[in-house]
Order: sequence, then structure tokens, then C-alpha cells
Amino acid sequence: MLNEKNAKVRFRPIAKYDLELLRKWRMHPEVTKYLYTDPILTKEDQEKWYANLQEINDIYWIISYDKIDIGYAALRDVVSNISADPGIFIADTRYRKKGIAKFVIGKIQEYAFEVMGLSKLYGPVLSENYGALMAYLKNGWIIEGCLKRHIYKNKKYYDVYMIALFREDWRLNRRTFSRLFPIICKGERQCQKKII
Ligand SMILES: CC(C)(COP(=O)(O)OP(=O)(O)OC[C@H]1O[C@@H](n2cnc3c(N)ncnc32)[C@H](O)[C@@H]1OP(=O)(O)O)[C@@H](O)C(=O)NCCC(=O)NCCS
Repeated sequence: MLNEKNAKVRFRPIAKYDLELLRKWRMHPEVTKYLYTDPILTKEDQEKWYANLQEINDIYWIISYDKIDIGYAALRDVVSNISADPGIFIADTRYRKKGIAKFVIGKIQEYAFEVMGLSKLYGPVLSENYGALMAYLKNGWIIEGCLKRHIYKNKKYYDVYMIALFREDWRLNRRTFSRLFPIICKGERQCQKKII
């Protein structure tokens, strides 16, 4: 499975022509279900957002699988050399629960720590967003805390887990993993150079 994803998942930086696709994705109920907000976005909102992106350090990618655009990934609120809040959604639900998000998160964190030199990644996840929680936790993330009854949506309150990954923990886990599975890790590193 890992090798198959290495071959088929691609990242490309978002471009202006992706704005309409991103707008539709970001408003889709399957995407917003466990996100803080359910925005109604206009084309003008998107253009303003894109113009603002050029002024800041945040990075957004479109994720494709087997040449089909299926979602996005991001490093947001980037504080140079320090931290960022990753974002991800797989908008095309046919591609969920196949381990793609887990794989993409692994790649984003490698990029954040190795290429950007960040030391911490962090973010909030609604307690019932099991897919997101598992995709992060299975990449070595930890739960730093829980904000009780923090978000009200879909007529109910949700707890929010604050999750994080530190560079030193990621390095340590990675070294252990490389020792245990040297062949897989070698393939993964080579692929990393191609993908991002
Ligand atoms: C969150 C999201 C990106 C997960 O995508 P995905 O491709 O389904 O996730 P993966 O297939 O990589 O799953 C990761 C792990 O979680 C597990 N998992 C996935 N969905 C699960 C669920 N509903 N319950 C329990 N475990 C689940 C999988 O078993 C997998 O582990 P495995 O590969 O070892 O079996 C996707 O559901 C999504 O786009 N949601 C909408 C946007 C969103 O909520 N983004 C995250 C905001 S924090």
C-alpha cells in the first residue's frame, strides 16, 4: 500500500485556477462536517484570500491521486523557524479511508521539519473527527489538551483536542522506524524528493 501511494499521490502548489474548485470543496458538507466553520464563499472572497496568500508564508497544495484532484493540504499560520498549523481535507469521499490522509500528513510534516526548519506543528481537531485524529496520531502526534464543549455546531457541543508534533519527537520516531523498516524508509525518502 505504501509503495502504491508513493507512486500515485502528488502535491502541487495551488494556483489561481484552483480557486473555484477550492471554493466548492470548502463549502461541501462532507468537508465542513467537523470543521469550525461552514462558510458561504463568493468568488470575490476567494480572490481576496488568494491575494492575501501572496503576502504571508502559508503554503497550500492541491493533492491528486492517480492524476485526479482529490483534496488539499496546507501549512497555515506559519511562524518562520517555529510553528505552523497543518490543514487537510480529502474532498472526494471515494478516496477517504484508504490511508491517503495519513500518508499526506506524513509528507507535510517531513516538509515542515526538514525543508522549512519548523520545530512544532499543532492544531485543533473536533473530538468526533475520528478520521483526522487517527491520521495525525498514527503519524506520531500527541494530544496536548482538551477544550471541553468548545464548539457548537450541528445542534450539539463538541470537545476539541489540541494536538501537536515536535521536531525532536518526529526525528526520534523516524530513526526508530528506519531501523526497524530500512527498505520502506529508503523508498519513502527517494519519493519525498519527487513529490514536494
Ligand atoms: C479527516 C480526513 C482528511 C481523513 O481522511 P482519510 O483519507 O479518510 O484518512 P485515512 O484513510 O488516511 O485514515 C487515517 C487513519 O484513520 C483511520 N480512520 C479513518 N476514518 C476513521 C473513522 N471514521 N473512525 C476511526 N478510524 C478512522 C484509518 O483506519 C486510518 O488508519 P489506517 O490507515 O492505519 O487504517 C477526511 O475525513 C476529510 O477530508 N474530512 C473532512 C475535512 C476534515 O475534517 N479535515 C481535518 C480537520 S482537523
